[in-house]
Amino acid sequence: MDATRLPLRQFDQPPGMIDLGWGHPGPDLIPTDGLRRAAARTLHRYGPDALGYGYAAGPGPLVAWVCDRLGVVDRRSPVPDDVVITAGNSHGLEQLASLLTAPGDAVLVESPTYHLAVRILQDHPVELVPVPSDTEGLCVDSLPAIVERLRREGRIVRLLYTQPTFHNPTGISLAADRRRSLVDFAQAAGILIIEDDPYRELAYDSAAPPSLWSLASAGAVARLGTFSKTLAPGLRTGFITSDPTLTRRLCATGVLASGGGISHFTSLVVAEFAASGDYVSHVATLLTAYAQRRAELLSALARHVESRATWAQPAGGYFVWLSLAPPRDAAATLPRARAAGVGYMPGGAFNVPPHGVNGSLRLAFSRYAPQQLDEAVQRLAGAIDGPGSADRPRG
Ligand SMILES: Cc1ncc(COP(=O)(O)O)c(C=O)c1O
Repeated sequence: MDATRLPLRQFDQPPGMIDLGWGHPGPDLIPTDGLRRAAARTLHRYGPDALGYGYAAGPGPLVAWVCDRLGVVDRRSPVPDDVVITAGNSHGLEQLASLLTAPGDAVLVESPTYHLAVRILQDHPVELVPVPSDTEGLCVDSLPAIVERLRREGRIVRLLYTQPTFHNPTGISLAADRRRSLVDFAQAAGILIIEDDPYRELAYDSAAPPSLWSLASAGAVARLGTFSKTLAPGLRTGFITSDPTLTRRLCATGVLASGGGISHFTSLVVAEFAASGDYVSHVATLLTAYAQRRAELLSALARHVESRATWAQPAGGYFVWLSLAPPRDAAATLPRARAAGVGYMPGGAFNVPPHGVNGSLRLAFSRYAPQQLDEAVQRLAGAIDGPGSADRPRG
């Protein structure tokens, strides 16, 4: 095979398809010029040190900037010893699962959830135990009984994976009182919360709620942050904020001892981009653009899909979670939708087995301009009740 013909991207889509299934940033909103300039400045400023093996926890300029920035977009800023740079949240989750779990452990996972976090956790010999959620996020009240049952069975409940802010796929943020009680419960039960927090910066209506990490005592929460949604996923750069004991353990792992700090060069580029003021102005651009895309998707849904589904306006992030009116089934409708030139992620993909959601689907508004979003929803509306629809409402 001619390797020069191998694809560059994670996915390709048929010409003309508007695929709202991918939770990726809009290609037009990736700051390529600013990053090119930041990369040139990085090489100029640091010379070969920009391209050497980096410090295990990540380069000082990015760690310092993360501490400052979280003081702006969260309730509490970390100190440098609380931070480890990662290659993004997928990598951060993998690092934590590798370091902290043992075969047979139980890992609690909010359901529904980001389907690929489930994939990462499934790479480890642990049992994933779903925790239900509702319109206010994770059902914290259900946790004591779940944990008690597992402990009665002799299981070690090691971790709880959750996304309390602008959830993927539902868009929901965990209610304020539940944040407090979740942190209190997990601390008392000795369960580490892994807080996946990729969308904090993308808050369209008001500031994002305080992270669980900011509410908890040291050692109770490890929060995953990433530049994939605000800058570019190809940078593979993000961070963990936890506490010095956990960051020391992460930095002592063989992978960092051998390879040095993760994403060293791109971390310096991100720090350089941020130091120039470009990050703050870029996020302002994103907020305007994504809020407009969100508004267009929601008004297109109101125009074209109204009586056949329900949804809520997400206050941040990339996603609208659509619940089709019964008896419609999101997975069964998908082939018709794709034939009509629109894609989405059926809700069943986000189940943590055996918890189930089948009438729902996830639409990402991030990748497309407003006009394409309207066209996509028209196609979707046709597919939901298209000719020959097996799940057409009766009566
Ligand atoms: C909740 C959640 N976690 C993690 C990721 C992956 O992030 P990263 O690119 O930083 O690995 C995503 C991306 O879609 C996400 O939505």
